[in-house]
Formats: sequence, C-alpha cells, structure tokens
Amino acid sequence: MNQRIFSGVQPTGNLHLGNYLGAIRNWVKLQDDYECLFCVVDLHAITVWQEPEKLRQSTRDVAAALIAAGVDPKEQIIFNQSQVPGHAELAWIFNCVARMGWLGRMTQFKEKAGKDRENASVGLFAYPSLMAADILLYKGTHVPVGEDQKQHLELARDIAQKFNNDFKTETFPIPEPLILGTSTRVMSLKDGTKKMSKSDPSDLSRINMTDDADTIARKIKKAKTDPDLLPDTVQGLDGRPEARNLLGIYATLAETTVDQAVQTFAGQQFSALKTELSDVAVANLAPIQDEYRRLLADKGHVDSVLADGAERARTMAEPVLREVQDVIGFLRVKLSRKPT
Ligand code: TYM
Repeated sequence: MNQRIFSGVQPTGNLHLGNYLGAIRNWVKLQDDYECLFCVVDLHAITVWQEPEKLRQSTRDVAAALIAAGVDPKEQIIFNQSQVPGHAELAWIFNCVARMGWLGRMTQFKEKAGKDRENASVGLFAYPSLMAADILLYKGTHVPVGEDQKQHLELARDIAQKFNNDFKTETFPIPEPLILGTSTRVMSLKDGTKKMSKSDPSDLSRINMTDDADTIARKIKKAKTDPDLLPDTVQGLDGRPEARNLLGIYATLAETTVDQAVQTFAGQQFSALKTELSDVAVANLAPIQDEYRRLLADKGHVDSVLADGAERARTMAEPVLREVQDVIGFLRVKLSRKPT
C-alpha cells in the first residue's frame, strides 16, 4: 500500500515551540520520504468560539508558518480543511460508526469541556470523528503528531477498523501514529507538569514561533526552575519537571540527545542552561521568522498556495468518497450539472 502522511494543526492563535518541535519540524523531515498532506484544520477550530476575522487571519498565518518552517508547497499539499467538503461528509459517516462511549472517554474533550459539559458544542464531542475523517479521506497511513494526539489517533484506528469490519471491506488502512524525537511533549515554561499550549492564559508559558529574540530571552529567563544545580545523570531529572523540560527543549533544538545535554550542563546553575537555550532557540526560529514575514507581505501568495492545495486534495478525496458511498449503499445518481 502507498505510504501517505496526513497531519493537521489548528488555526487558533500563535503556533508555539510545542507545535514546532512536536509536529511541524518532523513534517519537514518526513516530506522527503512520503507523499504528504498538511492541513490547517479550521473545522476543528470552530468546535470552540472563534472570531471570524481572526480565524481567517490565523488560517493564513499558520499556512505561512508551515511554508516558512520548510514544508514544500509544490511537492506536498497544504490546504485548509473547510475548502474540501469531503472532510465534513466523511466525518458525518464516522459519527455513525463511532460509539458514544468511545468519544466520551477522550481526555481532551473532558479537559476542554470542563465542568460545564452541557454547554460544550456537539462538535467538540465529535471532534475525533472529524480527525479520523481527515486522515482516512486520503487513506492516510502515517500521522506525525505530538503525544497529546495519541488517544485521538487510537480512536481513528478503531473507527477505520469498525468501518472495515461492519461493511466487510478493506476500504481504509489502519493509520499509524508517528510520535518522533525527544520533544513529543513540550511543557509550559511556567509549570513543567502542564503541556505548552495555545490556550494557556499566560503568554510567558510558551515561546511563540513569532516571538523576537528579546522576547524569547525574556521568557526563558523567567521560566520556572527549582533550587538545585543541574544533575549529572538523566535519572537525576526524575521529580524535576522544569529541568527535564528545559534540557529536553535544548537537546532537540541543538540536535543532540538529552543524555548529552545533561553532560554539558552537569553541576551548573539553571542560568547557564537558560543562556544557551535562548541562543539556540533564536538561531532556530530567526530564519523561519524572516521567511514568514516575507511570505505574509506578499498578499496573495499564501492564498494561492491554499487554493492549489485544496484543489489537489479534492481530486484525491473524490474516488475515496465514491468508494465509501458505494460500500455504505448510498444510491449515487448521475448529476447533469457539475457541482461548483
Ligand atoms: P494542535 O493544533 O493542538 O497541535 C498541532 C500539533 O502540535 C502538537 N503539539 C505538541 N507537541 C509537543 N508538545 C506540545 N506542548 C504540543 N502542543 C501541540 C500536536 O500534537 C499536533 O501534532 N487535533 C489536532 C489537529 C488535527 C490533526 C488531524 C492531527 C486535526 N486533524 C489529523 C493529525 C491528523 C490538534 O488539535 O492539534
């Protein structure tokens, strides 16, 4: 079977170092070996309220960030989800395959809905069906993500499996998660036990991909630490989440191992690590930021990349949708006029 990558990112604000190290950086590396679709998932974004004008701008910004980070929009497909109607169509079908119990167990739903579940959107509950549809609409086989998406991917596998079993078919591959590298879970700079996240109210908790050098240095300087010197073994990081997080981020950005990073800073104060970490973060992000600004200054460019991506994605989705309709037993009628 053809190996095909699908992955997505929500346009719900600034991309941060967790998105970059946990996902986007791996996408750039994988694109040489796979056929890839990278999607700005605006349908997922509206499972919680989004200001329309901000959503439109964030969609462009995120697409520009992917290109600036090194995703090649000529070789690979970059598009926004709402522009390929098959995502919503297949998601509905998967809503009828997935079980309430499966979705009710999703920790992200529990976290995002909080105590006021009655007031959460139905879309937030059904979110993982749409994610399964994203991947399977193209018969995606591999899905590079950070660790927080693992449970959703297991559900996508269950949906694919149940669809195939129910209809006695092999329509869908069972997609494999690719959770790669040492920064599969980048933590908040303010609390090493919490994931770095766009929705954290404190901007000091995260490094945004668009932060300038001074802001990066300031945030790292203010990052939470503990009172001890840095350990000389990886085991010495046990029970020290902030030290583990900062050394992990450093190791990934400096393209070394955590073990090697521990050796480099053994017995030193956090301040030594923080200085080096700021330098290596700026060295990694500055070229991406230059390219990002250049891309956004050229008004129509990002939109034309997204239009081209959406067209190519629609073409790929079409035969899969036809196959699914036939398998389910939908009567396909011949239209005399092509839908727009
Ligand atoms: P999203 O937009 O929350 O995050 C995009 C990617 O960044 C990763 N990530 C992290 N990795 C490491 N440390 C962190 N602190 C961190 N925060 C985020 C995420 O794991 C993700 O890979 N539901 C998805 C988007 C999606 C999708 C898909 C992904 C929709 N359809 C189909 C894969 C396949 C999401 O909300 O990602």
